Amino acid sequence: MIRKLLDSKQNNKQVWFLRQAGRYLPEYRSIRKKKKNFLDFCFDKNSVVEATLQPIKRFDLDAAIIFSDILVVPYVLNRKISFIEGFGPRLEPLKLGDEKKLNINREKQNVLFNTYDSIRETRKKLNKNKSLIGFCGGPWTVACYIIDGNSKGGFADSKHWLKKHNSNLQILINILIDQSVEHLYQQYLHGCDTLMIFESWAKLVPKEFMNDFIFFPSQQIIKLLRNRGVDATFIAFPRGLSESVLEYDDFVKPDIISLDQDIDMMWAVKNFNKNKVLQGNICPDKLLDGKLSLYKEIEKLKECVLERSHIFNTGHGILPKTNPETLKKVIEYLRG
Ligand code: CP3
Repeated sequence: MIRKLLDSKQNNKQVWFLRQAGRYLPEYRSIRKKKKNFLDFCFDKNSVVEATLQPIKRFDLDAAIIFSDILVVPYVLNRKISFIEGFGPRLEPLKLGDEKKLNINREKQNVLFNTYDSIRETRKKLNKNKSLIGFCGGPWTVACYIIDGNSKGGFADSKHWLKKHNSNLQILINILIDQSVEHLYQQYLHGCDTLMIFESWAKLVPKEFMNDFIFFPSQQIIKLLRNRGVDATFIAFPRGLSESVLEYDDFVKPDIISLDQDIDMMWAVKNFNKNKVLQGNICPDKLLDGKLSLYKEIEKLKECVLERSHIFNTGHGILPKTNPETLKKVIEYLRG
């Protein structure tokens, strides 16, 4: 289990990948085809178990991440949502003031129990020495999709709320903190030993708002769960923070910090406490060609983390054009 990484003195090395289940795998595309709607796929118990286990079967990775999406939380909050091929998620944008009217839809919340059932089933099928990761989006990232509806305009409305309608945004963030806690708690109760927060759009927040809208929400989520007795391993992924990732880590105190590819691992190794477990951060583009330069990058990364626990991973999600054979070779190389 990834849990043993907490004993960072053991100099543990493990490997899994962000978006390791997904369109680059032919076996995923094959089962995905059976459902037109992405959310229908996410709430189909058998599909979720299978999609989650596919990369483990193929690559024998150290951790499985439950197949779902960060946008199931807005779904439960009754936001209209669809996933459009070649475009991505599209939600009905939230109007200023309507954050006060947000409410949980009980029927939709029940649908989410399909995911929790899938977690229980996956845990049964997954080798005990492998970790099962549950996750949620960071409150700011989820708020961005709720407010703007999609990512195409650079989340201009969300940034406007941040600067001009701070208290409205605060209400939304508080709701998302609560929902994230509930969602992660259920994932833990159903068998996830590791819980991850994806704050993918952290870099959109200017420094002056960083404390309130990036650091504090992640800190609260982890704190509230630990207070409930959740002894899961927490991974936080605040993407794009550059050197502020140190401050984030100090504030949020996750067990593992996941680094994006813009962070120099040598800098990270020098600046994070020796006992901090680092995850990352090969650039997903590098996996596209699979040539010598990829292995040079891997060598460089391996050397940086030689004397500490490290979870080999990408700095962001694997791209759909990635050849699964490249991943296989990388894993063999790492273990060889
Ligand atoms: O192995 C895994 O990581 C699978 C589980 C997973 C998905 N989404 C499945 C998915 C996870 C952990 C996510 C997280 C997620 N979703 C994030 C945070 C991580 C990141 O990438 O920054 C975000 C921002 C989302 C929102 C989202 N969902 C987007 C932007 C998209 C479109 C992306 C695209 O490449 O088209 C989705 C859809 C989605 N979520 C797909 C998958 C496999 C592709 C849709 C499909 O298969 O039909």
